[in-house]
Order: sequence, then structure tokens, then C-alpha cells
Amino acid sequence: MHCIKKVTDDLFWVGANDRRLAMFEGVYSVPDGVSYNSYLLTDEKTVLFDTVDKAVRQRFMENLTFALGDRDLDYIVVQHMEPDHSAVLQEIVYRYPGVKIVCNEKILAFIEQFFDLNLRSRAHVVAENDQLETGKHKLHFIMAPMVHWPEVMVSYDSTDKILFSADAFGSFGALNGALFADEVNFAKDYMDETRRYYANIVGKYGTQVSSLLDKASALAIEMICPLHGFVWRKNITEILLKYTLWGKYEPEEYGVMIVYASVYGNTENAAEILACKLRENGIKTTMFDVSVIPASNIISEAFRWSHIVLASTTYNAGIFVTMEALVNDLVAHNIQNRTVAIIENGSWAPASGELLRGKMKECKNITIIDNMISLKSSLKQTQMPELESMAAAIIASFPEKARPMPASAAQDSHALPPATVDPQTMFKLSYGLFVLTARDGDKDNGCIINTVGQITESPVEISASVNKANYTHDMILKTGEFNVSILTESVPFRVFQQFGFQSGKDSDKFAGSDQVFRAKNGIRYIPKYVNGVISAKVTESIDCGTHTQFIANVTQAFTLSNERSVTYQYYFDNIKPKPLPPKSGKKGFVCRVCGYVHESDTLPDDFICPLCKHGVEVFERLT
Ligand code: FEO
Repeated sequence: MHCIKKVTDDLFWVGANDRRLAMFEGVYSVPDGVSYNSYLLTDEKTVLFDTVDKAVRQRFMENLTFALGDRDLDYIVVQHMEPDHSAVLQEIVYRYPGVKIVCNEKILAFIEQFFDLNLRSRAHVVAENDQLETGKHKLHFIMAPMVHWPEVMVSYDSTDKILFSADAFGSFGALNGALFADEVNFAKDYMDETRRYYANIVGKYGTQVSSLLDKASALAIEMICPLHGFVWRKNITEILLKYTLWGKYEPEEYGVMIVYASVYGNTENAAEILACKLRENGIKTTMFDVSVIPASNIISEAFRWSHIVLASTTYNAGIFVTMEALVNDLVAHNIQNRTVAIIENGSWAPASGELLRGKMKECKNITIIDNMISLKSSLKQTQMPELESMAAAIIASFPEKARPMPASAAQDSHALPPATVDPQTMFKLSYGLFVLTARDGDKDNGCIINTVGQITESPVEISASVNKANYTHDMILKTGEFNVSILTESVPFRVFQQFGFQSGKDSDKFAGSDQVFRAKNGIRYIPKYVNGVISAKVTESIDCGTHTQFIANVTQAFTLSNERSVTYQYYFDNIKPKPLPPKSGKKGFVCRVCGYVHESDTLPDDFICPLCKHGVEVFERLT
């Protein structure tokens, strides 16, 4: 029985999941399974993007047959000839004799290598930036060699702004009923497997990944359809930002990954004490026993953390076997830009330290901390200063901004706080986010604010502080009435763009709304992504310089849903797109409110964010 998913009105996921596979590519465990994605575009011509692994052939054929209905298949775009995506190609060619194979020259050669097929007469061979019109849709082909094989290309549908990205942006893990990354808690439940997939499958090819990202940056992308894992249609910068870091081998987080090989627990003991010393100083740590944890997990974590400690006993006058395999793997995956510290152990002839140092030196931009510790069987009290010195050297190698305040200092009640006003402290206040709406004659308007609060219970009064630069402010000052729509956690970023990043003076912020919703006072409210609406009549306006504080009597209040209200912090963590770092060599400042990046060495004191209109106080330097 078919099991397909609708991606857009004329694009369908016709892939399948495999939860029985033990080892992907025979090397990587996939405890959560894996998806093989294939997509069918039903335009005037029908277009299939890749096929699937032979293990899920039957489900895929049922899906494709159902999605096609009584139509024939006109094109199959082969983006990647690795058999997890091309195993069913031969069957497709036989079943649909009229199908044209869209591919590049190298893919055509690989087809002949994998199958006893000569498809040249049926091939539509494409090169960089070639296009194919299929009716309403126009496909553009972009070469992506070594992401992950040399023949790889990706396809861009400029009509619907969809990037079919081959292996890029893929993940381990079956889809389990969802298709879109925004249907799941991606950061919590799927990011680790996405990183593990990236690091192990394409991690070696960071230069080629960066090159593909450069090409992609010229495209308006509203959706990414990879060959494994989830489709991205919201918060695309979340995954783009990760790929930007991974492609450049830059760590995601400042912290220390400690990997140890310990036969009788003494090397582990030293590693553990080091972890405690680092934690006491507020440094994030994670630890792995290399003899227990699969190498693919540790390789993945190496792409995450800024610092690596390798602690290994000596074995047969060399590095312990599992540690040796790991460092060979790290070198093979091209790990770069990390700071490494080494602990060796050996009861009669410790040698693993120098050997580890030599291996890690094969990687680019690896800083090895000088204070190597050499244990003789076990750590003794007399060596504690060495361990403390290693911890201090690791901490000193963190950039200033990444050094958290040690717990002991934070608790020191005798430390006097600076006698200044730190604007960052204001961001510690908890706020909600609201659409404030007003009406003046025929003009409806609204803006985003974060400063609504109840003042009294009887009568029910609220206050709202509104920037005088907002047109809504002037309308409330004139009419004395407003509505507050309380936003929920499902609110998409475009609502903030709609009401926050343009002026009501020269635009209609409700343009494109299908239906008009008004409260009893005749003022519009927002019906979606909102859990409650409050109407209020102003009783007092307090001039606060840049803002007016409106004190108002609540005249109507109703609940729309039980979804949780969005907080300012939630918006920053989960809704606001994360700014992408500027391309290499460029410097800049990022607006913490809307993510706008001003690429320049300097930021003038009177600079105003062109998107959200906040001043220099909300900008921070990108490094
Ligand atoms: Fe998913 Fe490189 O194949």
C-alpha cells in the first residue's frame, strides 16, 4: 500500500523509510533508521528526483505508481549515483520506456558502471546552470562535486524556490510520519543525528560544501528537499548556519570533548578529574570512552566542540587500538581548527602521547597545548599541579567571550557589581510579544510590542509602552483605543516581518489577509498564532521620552486557544532566523533583534537597523 506525503500542491514525497538497516554504508549504525527520499513533480511533464535503496524498492514503486496515477513518467533527474538513491533506476527505465534521464556526463558514466545499461540515447545531459522547463516549473541544475561523490549535482526549482539538495542537508533517522523539520523538535531530537550524518558522510569535503553554499546563497530558497531526513520549509537558516560552520570546520560551541582509552580505569580517572576542574571553571565538557562509543558519534562531536582532549594508555608501544582508530578517522575526516590537549599513560614506557601529537599534527590549524601529562600507571597527588596546569592552559586558550563566569565567582557575594548600566541586563527581563492594533477612520494599523502588563484587577487595567516612532502610537494617542493580540509559540517569523519591519505610514500591514476580524471596538485583531485578545480604552498617557506609556481600561477580553504565549526569549531561541556568519574575510555587526547583518569594520553611533529600526545598542560584533 502506498504511503506518500504532499510537499506542495504538485510535489510529492514518494520515498521510504528503512528501520531494519543495522549499518548505513556498512559502517555507520542507524538505530533510528534512515529515510531514502524521492520526490515526484507533477507538472505538465512528470519529473522524478532520484530513486531509493533496494531495501525499500517495493514501497517506493507503490508510491510512485500511485502518485503518477494514469500518467507516464517523463523525466527522472539523477542527482547522485550512489546506490542508496539509484538502486531502482534500472527498473524505472524498463517500466517507463519513454522516460528521459536528466543527468550530467559523470552521472551517465557511473550509470554504465553500476548497470548494464547504455542510456545515452535517452539522456538529457546537463551542465552547470542548464535549465529545463517542465510546464509551470523551471529547473536549474547546479554541480556539487564531492558533496558527497564526484558526480553529484543539485536542482533548483525557481518557480517554487525549492532546492533539491541531494545528500546535503540530510540526516540519519527515519521520518516517523513527519516530513517537515518544523513538525518535530528538530534541535532537541534530530540535530545530533544530522550532525553525525554530516560529519561522517560529507565532513571530509568541507571545501566543496562551502562552495555549494556559496552557489546556494545566490538563490532565493524557500524549501530544501534533501535525499535523507526532513524537508526544510521554515527556519532554513537554522540548518544553513550549521552547514556554514561545518563546511569551514568551525566549532558550533566552545567546550571540551574528552575522549579516553583506558584499560584499567586509571587513564579514565585522570580524564574525569580534568573534566571536573574544567567544569568548576564553568567550561562545558563531554566525555567518551572510545572503546565503547562508536567512532561515528565521536567524529560527530568533534565537529561540534572547540577543544578536544585525547587521553590514551600505551599499548604494544603505540596508541591504544581504539584510540588509534579514532585519531586515524579524525584525520581522514579532515578535522581542523581545534585546540587539542593530550594525556598519555604507560606503566613502563609511555609512548602514546607523542604518537597522538604526531597524528593530530596531520590536520590543519590544530593547536596542541604544550602541557602534555604523562602518567605512570595512575595519577598521583604529586601530579595534580600538572593536571591543574593543563586545565588552566585549556581555559586560557578560550577566547574571552567564551569564558563563562566560574560558579565560585558567581556565588561570591563580596564581589561588587560594576556601578554602570549594562544594556544587556535589560534583556534578562522576561517579556511576552504582542501585536498592538489601532484604527483611525478607515485606516487599520498594528505593530509588535513586548511591553504589555496588567496593572490592576479591579477595575481591570493594563499598561502598554509604545515607541513614538510607531504610527500605531500616533493613532492610539489620537483615538484612545487599542487591541492587544497575544502571540503564541507557533507564530512564524513572517508575522514579525509583517508588523514589525515596515511602517504603517506607507504600507498596509494587513494586505493579503483573507478575512477581517474586529473586536467590539471595531479595531482589528489577529486571529491566528494568538491565544487571547484584549481591547482597552486609554485612561492616561504618560510621556516617557522615546515612548508613551498608555494606561488603559480593559473593555473586552477573549481567549482563542490554549497554546502557550510566546516569550521574548523563545522568539530569540526558536523563531528569529539565526544570522549567517559573513563570508570569509568579511567583518560585521549583527542585530540581535531581527538578525540583520551590517558588513563593515565599524558601526556608527547613530546607526539604525534598516529592518527593525533598533539602534546600535542591540548590535553585536560578528567574529
Ligand atoms: Fe545518500 Fe551519498 O548517498
